[in-house]
Amino acid sequence: MARRLKDIRPIELKNQKLYVLNQLKLPKEEEWIELSTYEDVAKAIKDMVIRGAPLIGIVGAYGFAIGVKNLINDGKPLDEAKNILETLKNTRPTAINLFWALDRIWKKFEKWKTQKTKKELIKALFKEANRIDLEDYHANKSIGGYGQVLIPKKANILTHCNTGALATSGWGTALGVIRSAFEDGKDITVFVDETRPYLQGARLTAWELEQEGIPYYLITDNSAGFLISKGIIDVIIVGADRITANGDVANKIGTYTLSVLAKTHNIPFYVAAPTSTFDLETQSGTDIPIEQRSENEIKTCGGCQIAPKNTKALNYSFDITPAENITAIITEKGLISEINKENIQKFLKYRGL
Ligand code: MRU
Repeated sequence: MARRLKDIRPIELKNQKLYVLNQLKLPKEEEWIELSTYEDVAKAIKDMVIRGAPLIGIVGAYGFAIGVKNLINDGKPLDEAKNILETLKNTRPTAINLFWALDRIWKKFEKWKTQKTKKELIKALFKEANRIDLEDYHANKSIGGYGQVLIPKKANILTHCNTGALATSGWGTALGVIRSAFEDGKDITVFVDETRPYLQGARLTAWELEQEGIPYYLITDNSAGFLISKGIIDVIIVGADRITANGDVANKIGTYTLSVLAKTHNIPFYVAAPTSTFDLETQSGTDIPIEQRSENEIKTCGGCQIAPKNTKALNYSFDITPAENITAIITEKGLISEINKENIQKFLKYRGL
């Protein structure tokens, strides 16, 4: 029986003002905050008030529009817009969607700044950011449509991190596929990796599944191998922060381990991502800059110290899954199976990208 799911949105634009759902407070509290300067936006991205590859691109683009609006209203020269662009780019290094969205809005700004009045320029920049936002939503619905066909009628699906409405404009990529399959009436149980240390799985994915009434179990990251070896997991599906020319994928730390488990135990391992996640200028995963975050994210949990004060911790935020470990990449334009440089190029070219 087909079901109808809720539409969760992590951001809202009202009269050129940007409000975001503070993901640091979830699941305890649903707090909406206004980001009124580009510095606010940069800080929110850096501190992970909002996160997830597509969403940081969208919010980055709105941040640029907000920055230019404030420049103009303060009577400052438009040359200062370059600084806004660089500040927003200097927040998180791994997800390509941030750079993709900022480069896209920057190109429009360069074109429009001499053609339009200042008022028209502000309006056009907000419209462009809004277009990026809406395109992402539609891309996710389409990823869901293509991806859900791969999910058996009854399936235990393991997922990592948060790739849902909270990581995108809405609906989600990997979690979007799960949503679409559930909406289609499939009998699904989701196994949610808690995703240490930021706990995107426990705090955010579980919150989203709870809202939708989709059955799930929260598991520790360490449980995946045991559950897979017992034959309990049918499918693994994850998102991506960057996909290189040869099909290697950067995603939340722990993704690579899951891909090795999937290969060993012969279960499908899918990556769901919009085509804005492809970075054809980067040849392979080894060239992707991997964000390293504060040691304190590992040494504390929920504000409590959980390791000796002087412990040295290594907090890599992402890892690289090689193309050969991936069964298929699910995009809004269709599927890429047999992942290699030539197939990716052909796929994107035939779709006019
Ligand atoms: O550090 P985060 O929470 O921004 O990392 C998010 C992920 O790794 C997601 O899997 C990825 O961005 C895809 S989201 C649709």
